Amino acid sequence: EKGTYPHYMLKEIDEQPFVIRNIIKQYQNEEGNLKLDDDIRGAMKDADRIYIVACGTSYNAGLVGKQLIENMANIPVEVHIASEFVYNMPLLSKKPLFIFISQSGETADSRAVLVEVKRLGHKALTITNVPGSTLSREADHTLHLYAGPEIAVASTKAYTAQIAVLAILAVDTARAQGIELDFNPLQELAIVANAMETLTDQKETMERVAQEYLSVTRNAFFIGRAVDYFVCLEGSLKLKEISYIQAEGFAGGELKHGTIALIEEGTPVIALATQEHVNLSIRGNVKEVAARGADTCVISTEATKDEGDRIVLPEVHEYLTPLVSVVPLQLLAYYAALHRDCDVDKPRNLAKSVTVE
Ligand code: F6R
Repeated sequence: EKGTYPHYMLKEIDEQPFVIRNIIKQYQNEEGNLKLDDDIRGAMKDADRIYIVACGTSYNAGLVGKQLIENMANIPVEVHIASEFVYNMPLLSKKPLFIFISQSGETADSRAVLVEVKRLGHKALTITNVPGSTLSREADHTLHLYAGPEIAVASTKAYTAQIAVLAILAVDTARAQGIELDFNPLQELAIVANAMETLTDQKETMERVAQEYLSVTRNAFFIGRAVDYFVCLEGSLKLKEISYIQAEGFAGGELKHGTIALIEEGTPVIALATQEHVNLSIRGNVKEVAARGADTCVISTEATKDEGDRIVLPEVHEYLTPLVSVVPLQLLAYYAALHRDCDVDKPRNLAKSVTVE
């Protein structure tokens, strides 16, 4: 039930801190240590390469997951769109492990790949919000998201839950290999949950920013570098699917290779600047588009902020910034759609669960 909320999407955005805390609880043993299935640990440890396969928002979460697994567990990861993977299977490594990420667990494009993977005799792990779903039943292993039912067509809490569970999986895999990490995922996720709450408490600000930048425009750009780029892809998907604004996420450095031609007087450009090591470069990109007339809106963190930034995020561990930086983008999409009189929870042409290929 959506209770006092006008839309499921807003309710689900607000639930994210609780979902993260629930994930902490579910993946913790009595001593407060990380708890994960031994079989899953074994499957991860045995793999010489991981293939993440997913669609839409779950694919976007997979892009962040690749970074987490490669950085912490030191296993190469490829991320693939399910509908393309079916025709374009890359050369597989000797001991591949497939990870299917799917909120619903019913996405036909992903299932088609799972069927093929099983036919070839490979192992598969499904990360899903729906226990007993097709992708969960047909894979060898399942990790649950514990996010509670997601009703709004636009996925929000499942995305952050997917990243949180991928972080836990990455740490567990690292430890299984004897890799020492200076990162306690349960503690760091608790900090994330509080940071999310700080942001969901700033709805007036988000609504104002949405009205200022997105109330009349036909298009919008999201730019970022490093992991911010992946969050930009998710932010632009959210915006386009519910507000029907043509929105694109771009890597900051790629703009000058073509896309900057689209920038005109008043084009909204939302820039994520949460990563210290690329802060100067993304700031440079913001200046480039501003010089061509763009209306720029910078979202930064306490560590990267600069004068004039519109939203400053609370500090969390650098591995986990996507969990926090996506929240304002979800809220911007929500308020943009609301002020453009769109049907937020049921956007046109879309279904919650895509069960056809
Ligand atoms: C976007 C959205 C879709 C889904 C995609 C995959 O907000 O919800 O892009 O992420 O259809 O669905 P699942 O995760 O159920 O496989």
